Amino acid sequence: MTNLADRLHHDFEPETNQSGNRTFGEVVNARLDRRNFLRGGLGLAVTGIFAGPISACSSLPGAQAASSSPTLGFDPVPVSAADTVVVPEGYEAKVIYRWGDAISGDFPAFAPDNTGEDQAHQAGMHNDGMHFFPIEGEDPWQGSSTDGLLVVNHEYIESRYLHYGITQGTEISSWGTPGHEGPRDSGQVLKELNAHGVSVARIRDDGNGNWQIVPDPRNRRITGLTRMEIAGPARGHAKMATLYSPEGTHTRGTLSNCAHGVTPWNTYMAAEENWSGYFVNHDDTLPREHARMGVRTDVSRHNWHLAENGNDGFVRFDASTKADSPAGDYRNEPNTFGWITEIDPFDPDAAPVKRTTLGRFAHEGVVFAPAEAGKPVVCYSGDDSVFEYIYKFVSDGLYQPGLTRGDILDSGTLYVARFNDDGTGEWLPLVYGQNGLDESNGFTDQGDVLINTRTAADIVGATPMDRPEWGTVDPATRAVYFTLTNNSRRTEDQTGSANPRAENRYGSIIRWNEADGDQESERFNWDFFVLAGPQGDSRDANGEALDENSVFACPDGLWIDADRRLWIQTDISDSATNQGPYESLGNNQMLVANPDTGEIRRFLTGPAGCEITGVVTTPDRRTLFVNVQHPGANTSAADFAAGNFASHFPDGGNAFPRSATIAIRRLDGGIIGA
Ligand code: FEO
Ligand code: CA
Ligand code: CA
Ligand code: CA
Repeated sequence: MTNLADRLHHDFEPETNQSGNRTFGEVVNARLDRRNFLRGGLGLAVTGIFAGPISACSSLPGAQAASSSPTLGFDPVPVSAADTVVVPEGYEAKVIYRWGDAISGDFPAFAPDNTGEDQAHQAGMHNDGMHFFPIEGEDPWQGSSTDGLLVVNHEYIESRYLHYGITQGTEISSWGTPGHEGPRDSGQVLKELNAHGVSVARIRDDGNGNWQIVPDPRNRRITGLTRMEIAGPARGHAKMATLYSPEGTHTRGTLSNCAHGVTPWNTYMAAEENWSGYFVNHDDTLPREHARMGVRTDVSRHNWHLAENGNDGFVRFDASTKADSPAGDYRNEPNTFGWITEIDPFDPDAAPVKRTTLGRFAHEGVVFAPAEAGKPVVCYSGDDSVFEYIYKFVSDGLYQPGLTRGDILDSGTLYVARFNDDGTGEWLPLVYGQNGLDESNGFTDQGDVLINTRTAADIVGATPMDRPEWGTVDPATRAVYFTLTNNSRRTEDQTGSANPRAENRYGSIIRWNEADGDQESERFNWDFFVLAGPQGDSRDANGEALDENSVFACPDGLWIDADRRLWIQTDISDSATNQGPYESLGNNQMLVANPDTGEIRRFLTGPAGCEITGVVTTPDRRTLFVNVQHPGANTSAADFAAGNFASHFPDGGNAFPRSATIAIRRLDGGIIGA
């Protein structure tokens, strides 16, 4: 039984998969002998699930970019509990901007009592996925390395800091909201919604590694209130109709934008992850579109629907059926969330578009395989909740460089992954009329299948995973890597006696290659790149334990750069870092790996209580951008009241902490990580 405080926490992962599908743990058990793993012995069964070193282009027909193996040329940094960003010797890290720094409009200065209107022109909170779009560049790897549009997701808020002008001196927890029981102050609700979403801001390097926001007509905030188009098979569906859009073609806002994606046509994709907690539905029986996503019947995270002024944009977060409303109600509002939202950073007038072909679930992010002219567009997305799935999309249309735009995503096939014991896997199509996705299971059409993606995946027999987070595709080998961050709720009963990781606290990175090197294939071959954890409870790609320079847990962010360095970021819960099983692992961190040799080295450690997330370089790989999310979230309610913050990052002194984007460079101007 979880208590209310847990359920209001942003990281609460409602367990809603009752399908009984065979879990990934059970699949792994069939390949991995527990005794060998726990003894630290290199049994055959252990090594059997690692492919060992692979070399670029060796055995993979279809691999395009011939590329050499990347070097890791820096001295690793040790684990750290210090309240600062630590980078290797010869590197420096500088803050670009923090939550509340102005990016657009009349550039309102940051202050603890900024209004909701101010917040609509300032960077949102809790920076997460991001991408650097070189200015005037169609090719992300060819444009400027000193001038571009930085697009950043703002995943969620910490109310006590957002409203510090009100909360100062009061005892309030990390997930508390002032006046949560309602009626909610409408000005606060506006500020909360405007602190979510996405920022587009032009940034420029002054030549000395000092990046600054510069005014630009493309600078804009996309928030929880921005008007959005709905595209693909769910557009116009009866289950998308609301009082705001009776035709089911539009909605307002994107929320819980965790990781992101970048399309081959150079637009930005914002994923909607833990959005269901923002809604409430008081009906006696919830439709499966709500229940399978974890919409609650009692309260919502911030109770926005209790805003005192009754603003339509706020009350819509109550999705209860209102039989007495002649014009309709917001029973379908939650169905307009859980998608991937496309944003064109170069066109400030373009409405964001929710691409419904990519499915509706707790999208961590989306990752595109390198696009090839004359072939379909292929992308992958993980559903980050316990016992959820990994998906792949293949477009019907064929990619035409310079011509293809986002509407190619409006038609195609969404697949879900089944991982088999023997290291093979299958992509199971989620197509109306196939494999039981028809009236016998309550589906009326393809839009309905997509609105109920999780339920459809249950029915076709997908493999429940341990919280899939970011993915990335190696441009040389086309291997797809995904982080599986942890799943402490997996019990012995669910996994069986041979499970090496009942209560999987440390997570892993899995990888696969599509069969025959064909990105459209419905078959694949998988293994582990790393089983994360402390030294005695981990394995790298060669089956060796991680050492002091490479131990980590709860991998989340993952990105391979143009030189094929594999960047790994961690998200041990803010309340768990440096405690219990994580005690030896320090603050959250970023490491870099060589995907060919399996070598892993720690590159960065973050401040107290933060998560390290979001990673991208400039095209020349000489600046690397990283986000520090929720520093100081581990401050207790009592310490908050006393002004005793666990972190003062980035401003230092007695300042309260603020999420921030930082730029890292080498003092000698060299390539990051080399
Ligand atoms: Fe928002 Fe799944 O991390
Ligand atoms: Ca994440
Ligand atoms: Ca996470
Ligand atoms: Ca997190």
